[in-house]
Amino acid sequence: MNSDIDTGNLGTTGNPLRVAIVGSGPSGFYAAEALFKSPLTVRIDMLERLPVPFGLVRYGVAPDHPKLKQPTLVFDKIAQSPGFTFLGNVTVGRDVSLEQLRTTHHAVLFACGAESDRRLDLPNEDLDGSHTATEFVGWYNGHPDYRDRSFDLNQETAIIIGQGNVAIDVARILAKPIDELRSTDMAVHALDALAASRVRDIHIIGRRSPAQASFTFKELRELGDLGGCVTMVSGNDLRLNSASLTELEDKNNFNAAKNVEILQSWTTHCASAAEKRIWFHFLRSPVAIAGRCRLEQITLERNSLAGPPFGQLAQGTGTTRELRCGLLFRSIGYRGLPLPEVPFDPTRGVFPNTAGRIDGTPGLYAAGWIKRGPSGIIGTNRADAVATVQSLLSDLPHLDSRPKSGTEGLYEALAHCNSQVLSYADWRRIDAEEQRRGVVIGKPREKITRVSDMLALAASPPRCSRDRSADEL
Ligand SMILES: Cc1cc2nc3c(=O)[nH]c(=O)nc-3n(C[C@H](O)[C@H](O)[C@H](O)COP(=O)(O)OP(=O)(O)OC[C@H]3O[C@@H](n4cnc5c(N)ncnc54)[C@H](O)[C@@H]3O)c2cc1C
Ligand SMILES: NC(=O)c1ccc[n+]([C@@H]2O[C@H](COP(=O)([O-])OP(=O)(O)OC[C@H]3O[C@@H](n4cnc5c(N)ncnc54)[C@H](OP(=O)(O)O)[C@@H]3O)[C@@H](O)[C@H]2O)c1
Repeated sequence: MNSDIDTGNLGTTGNPLRVAIVGSGPSGFYAAEALFKSPLTVRIDMLERLPVPFGLVRYGVAPDHPKLKQPTLVFDKIAQSPGFTFLGNVTVGRDVSLEQLRTTHHAVLFACGAESDRRLDLPNEDLDGSHTATEFVGWYNGHPDYRDRSFDLNQETAIIIGQGNVAIDVARILAKPIDELRSTDMAVHALDALAASRVRDIHIIGRRSPAQASFTFKELRELGDLGGCVTMVSGNDLRLNSASLTELEDKNNFNAAKNVEILQSWTTHCASAAEKRIWFHFLRSPVAIAGRCRLEQITLERNSLAGPPFGQLAQGTGTTRELRCGLLFRSIGYRGLPLPEVPFDPTRGVFPNTAGRIDGTPGLYAAGWIKRGPSGIIGTNRADAVATVQSLLSDLPHLDSRPKSGTEGLYEALAHCNSQVLSYADWRRIDAEEQRRGVVIGKPREKITRVSDMLALAASPPRCSRDRSADEL
């Protein structure tokens, strides 16, 4: 610590602790909550690259799981805290630099999630017809980045690689009767496309055994209850080696035991019993993706497992089988993206950190998926963000304690880049408008899916709802 720096009044009304939080998903909001709970006077500027808040809660959580979006009610309360400012449509690293944030704030806390994907590293991975789950999820949830993607739903067979909850979401959305999706907040472009879908057979492929599948049993069980769809699994695929049996005996591994139990109950299902089928395959890895102009088939290699209980890895056996398909979703996990001037671990796709302190860069912190990698549910990010904030608060004596310009300085810097910055009040207007559009067609909301439309709505003077014509819907 520099002994010339007076740390005495940092965090008081005369010199509030000013923190810039990058990202407005769960980890950003939970970090803000933890900072406001401290006895210090705190001012928070939350910068979000999209015009609207909530990250994957708005753009990841499945539309047919509205209860799981309820944390936004908590986030909304946090946003009402005195000293909180939301700056939407501001990309850190493009509209404002880290260097700038360091001059206007005492600390910068990155909560910018994992916006990219792991890759299979196979030739033809990007062939027409082969997509990431990220694209599909973003598309049906109305994410502006993915709004204009298209998926050839004329195909009868879709394959999903990976056995996590995102894979389950993708399978469920493909299989669910369209009338059950119409009353959700799924974007209307996706509803229209899914209504015409000819997908009938959905294969979910895992490289390890059922005992290592990472989906949670409630999400798995739900697939067995879909109308007009039957879940299929071969008893052969459920044979477990002794290390897997040992794993299932561990009482902390309850979820895996439940998964296996549910899958076992499906081995007697008959494929012709329903219009659509979801097939589970275990111990298989994709080794080739082929097609002339577009995807036509993938090759799966049979695996065996090697290693001790809880450390078993898939190893190819050399036995392969082709599966014809026109639609492939790679759902093998998300991946963080680097930002200029911030240390980045390219292997793990995270900002390397110790207890949330970004390595080698005092005053920089990380929370959520960019801190620990792309795992965990919304609630997991709360304890994670609290731990990072604890690190930040205990570093207080080491931070530059001179008063900082915070929101004011940030607005000054942003004035130079000519981008329209949206406030939380602007988000409220967008939110109200989306809900109004939804009510008319029997949905909780109809999302505005283009950034330009969100910006126009935020810029337009408020109007009485009766003035609007049906054409605006
Ligand atoms: C498809 C999917 C479905 C899920 N469903 C559920 C579920 O049903 N229930 C559940 O509990 N969990 C679910 N999860 C997990 C949950 O969404 C995550 O645990 C959580 O969102 C991670 O929070 P985060 O704040 O770290 O990241 P995010 O939620 O991704 O938030 C990061 C935010 O940072 C912003 N950002 C990125 N870069 C910048 C930048 N340079 N400048 C400014 N802003 C930036 C992004 O736009 C985003 O808003 C799901 C995850 C996925 C992928
Ligand atoms: N409803 C919900 O609560 C909900 C919904 C969606 C997401 N989430 C959460 O969000 C997080 C992310 O979910 P996710 O499904 O993206 O990730 P995940 O749970 O980590 O699942 C990733 C899957 O991809 C497999 N995989 C990884 N690399 C592979 C490769 N090279 N080849 C073949 N398979 C590969 C993994 O298998 P291995 O195990 O062999 O590595 C695993 O089956 C999870 O914590 C999840 O629970 C929750």
